[in-house]
Amino acid sequence: MSVHIKTPEAIERMRVAGRLAAEVLDMIAPYVQPDVTTEELDLRCHEHIVKVQGSIPAPLNYRGFPKSICTSVNHVVCHGIPANKRLKKGDIVNLDITVIKDGYHGDTSMMFCVGEPSILARRLVKVTREALWRGISVVRPGATLGDIGHAVQQFVEAQGYSVVREYCGHGIGREFHEDPQVLHYGKPGEGLVLRPGMCFTIEPMVNAGKRFIKLLPDGWTVVTKDRSLSAQWEHTLLVTPDGHEVLTLRADERAAVPGA
Ligand code: MF3
Ligand code: CO
Ligand code: CO
Repeated sequence: MSVHIKTPEAIERMRVAGRLAAEVLDMIAPYVQPDVTTEELDLRCHEHIVKVQGSIPAPLNYRGFPKSICTSVNHVVCHGIPANKRLKKGDIVNLDITVIKDGYHGDTSMMFCVGEPSILARRLVKVTREALWRGISVVRPGATLGDIGHAVQQFVEAQGYSVVREYCGHGIGREFHEDPQVLHYGKPGEGLVLRPGMCFTIEPMVNAGKRFIKLLPDGWTVVTKDRSLSAQWEHTLLVTPDGHEVLTLRADERAAVPGA
């Protein structure tokens, strides 16, 4: 396993890429409404990333992925392919954005509620967001990847939900997916020790039902095996000498993070 420690120059570029990825979510938010198709959302993000940001949408052609963003609706866990299918009131949808700017990646995703989803759906979305932030809050030099996984898992399971095991967060930089793998379950004190200059994502996938998943025949779309709802939130992080910096923080989150 080779985990890069980013140079100050690389960190500055990671900050730019992270900010751009977050800005795509801010840009697209008003369009996530009943009757929009996920393909229309993809096209709008694509144009913004390419024409406004002068960046590259990392998913497009990544290992053959056909679109510029991932759109995962309801029981889709991750890697949903934008299609000519309309969102409807009551849906929950994850939009996952990864941009490449000056050779560096920024990767972030969030959930949107369309209309007013069920109480269960809204609670799942909220618990998953809090699970991400519980993971983020333990990131500092000397902490371990197991500390992160444990923080996420124990919170999610205490709420009666389950953590998907087959997909995880990842190191990020010049490559979309670098070492290490950042599992969303684990034991305190186990695994890699964090050091300043490391960059990775935390991106828990949480199912309302059992943790098991199934890959659809398109080779990308991951769904819950029991067809229960699933949610995911993702940020890209930098380990700093005294803690962490969330590189993909959005405007709406800034108020909640001291010093950001
Ligand atoms: N953005 C996803 C992640 O968080 C990866 C998507 S791969 C794709 O790691 F090919 F589906 F885009
Ligand atoms: Co990611
Ligand atoms: Co992502």
